[in-house]
Amino acid sequence: MLVNASEMLKKAKAGHYAVGQFNINNLEWTKAILLTAQELSSPVILGVSEGAGKYMTGYKTVVGMVKGMMEELNITVPVALHLDHGSYEGCLKCVEAGFTSIMFDGSHYPIEENVAKTKELVKIVAENGMSLEAEVGSIGGEEDGVVGMGECADPKECKMVADLGIDFLAAGIGNIHGKYPANWQGLSFETLDAIQQLTGDMPLVLHGGTGIPADMIKKAIDLGVSKINVNTECQLAFAAATRKYIEEGKDEQGKGFDPRKLLAPGTEAIKATVKEKMELFGSVGKA
Ligand code: 13P
Repeated sequence: MLVNASEMLKKAKAGHYAVGQFNINNLEWTKAILLTAQELSSPVILGVSEGAGKYMTGYKTVVGMVKGMMEELNITVPVALHLDHGSYEGCLKCVEAGFTSIMFDGSHYPIEENVAKTKELVKIVAENGMSLEAEVGSIGGEEDGVVGMGECADPKECKMVADLGIDFLAAGIGNIHGKYPANWQGLSFETLDAIQQLTGDMPLVLHGGTGIPADMIKKAIDLGVSKINVNTECQLAFAAATRKYIEEGKDEQGKGFDPRKLLAPGTEAIKATVKEKMELFGSVGKA
């Protein structure tokens, strides 16, 4: 069922587990994630970055594909279709296209401007039955060509934004997108704890889920994280499986060049990654 992400994340926060947001890039990604969620009876959030939206030819294509696929595959678990790191304009486009959830990333604006724009979106999102994620404290690493520094959010600013009527809040706690560098200091649980103390029931979002060790993930969930975003890890798994297929010369055997065969190992690798994450996040059986 295509729903907004508000209910599933409230339940996750109350139940001390997290729902995974897995970013999609194309049909294989979407299919792998939806089938795994259904198989494991887990709620799931499909994340679409602005770059991935463009790649898939636009948000309307994405909505059409996801809705059609859910019907054809009989997907009955709760699924939210969510814009990841949206600009203000991108958010409006996704409201119009039929997404069920959006993230407005105003973390690069001064806090006053982030607050003003987030407030406007709170109204628009409510009118459309959608859910809204806001961000405080930029998350490092590279995403769609934008490199952030990976800072720790100010808990007071988090409280200010949480009180605007948003549904869930992403806060920087030393997490970054992509692979973590060898000298990474780890997550700042002190910051997370301070944010959770001030924001209470607000579900918190952990970006940059790729490569965070399992014990840190569990501790973050204990401290109020209810949504964890994973993107790069599925890409790495897909690429490694596809590389193996080609290096073994399988594309040159029989009809091994058929995209339905060529892309199959990568698709299976995404499924395995998503399964592993859902088990770690504790969302299995929570649909
Ligand atoms: P990773 O690519 O590091 O998993 O981060 C995903 C993410 O946070 C998307 O917003």
